[in-house]
Amino acid sequence: MRDLVAETQLDVRHLVAPLFVREGISEPQPIESLPGVVQHTRDSLREEVRQLADLGVRAVILFGVPCIKDSIGSGAFDPEGIVQVALRDLAADVGDRVVLMADLCVDEYTDHGHCGVLDGPAGHPDTSVDNDATLDVYARIAVAQADAGAHVVAPSGMMDGQVGVIRAALDAAGHQQVAILAYSAKYASGLYGPFRDAVDCSIVGEGDRKAYQQDWRNAREAMVEVEADLAQGADMVMVKPALSYLDIIAAVKARVDVPVAAYHVSGEYAMIKAAAANGWIDHDAVATEQLTAIRRAGADLILTYFTRWFAESVAAGKST
Ligand code: PBG
Repeated sequence: MRDLVAETQLDVRHLVAPLFVREGISEPQPIESLPGVVQHTRDSLREEVRQLADLGVRAVILFGVPCIKDSIGSGAFDPEGIVQVALRDLAADVGDRVVLMADLCVDEYTDHGHCGVLDGPAGHPDTSVDNDATLDVYARIAVAQADAGAHVVAPSGMMDGQVGVIRAALDAAGHQQVAILAYSAKYASGLYGPFRDAVDCSIVGEGDRKAYQQDWRNAREAMVEVEADLAQGADMVMVKPALSYLDIIAAVKARVDVPVAAYHVSGEYAMIKAAAANGWIDHDAVATEQLTAIRRAGADLILTYFTRWFAESVAAGKST
């Protein structure tokens, strides 16, 4: 009877698997703070995505870890950059059955670790991220990712005007069908720590991302960001992280008529893994409870490192 009347459904088709691909390695590298997640080689990524597709997973989002980082993050738009190469592989393998998303940002590719181009020397107290100079770089990344086969680009840098610039660049390059999943309400969270290990990213000096990511004390500000992204052409909007921001997910869902995504981020995953490894909580129960809560709050799709585990549980007939 509980199943008969349950209000919220959590299904594999709601989940998007975030995957890391690293340039220049011959074996997948484990990520200590993200148990069960690896930095893939080109080949292991292909195999992983084939398996995910066979498990019914409908979408993946790629993050690249380049060999060489520089001040503007040029590896992010190089046609031979790691994500572009990986997208071409995946488009050939599974492009007809898996939605290929690409995170669009430069923090994995810059030697200073910021999500944009700087207006002065890295680490100097007067140096800021140059919003408008960064937009030119994002436009180039969008076109490079779309040329390589991305179906969806997902700008995550929180620069003002990024969605509009990316839409115009995609259209001008003949990529009218490529969609934009905007990380619209992205908070300056402490929960991204393991992700920064995953992409070997650390911010030079005393810096943080508080000048461009949102303040966790604010909810109305998230609505301004979402509205701005929609006005500029976003096809889907995202709230990130998820669990500390269920109120924001619910408010965005009530406000907009496009699909709403939520990112269950690295720290949220790592907390469950760590507590479960200590025997303090039941891994499967808590993971299912949390993902269901994100759906209940209103997320249509969830980006989560639990995607493979959930798909395997469903395939094994475990009750969720
Ligand atoms: C930025 C980006 C970040 C994450 C996704 N895209 C890191 C950041 O803003 O510091 C974090 C995802 C996670 O923690 O799982 N390119």
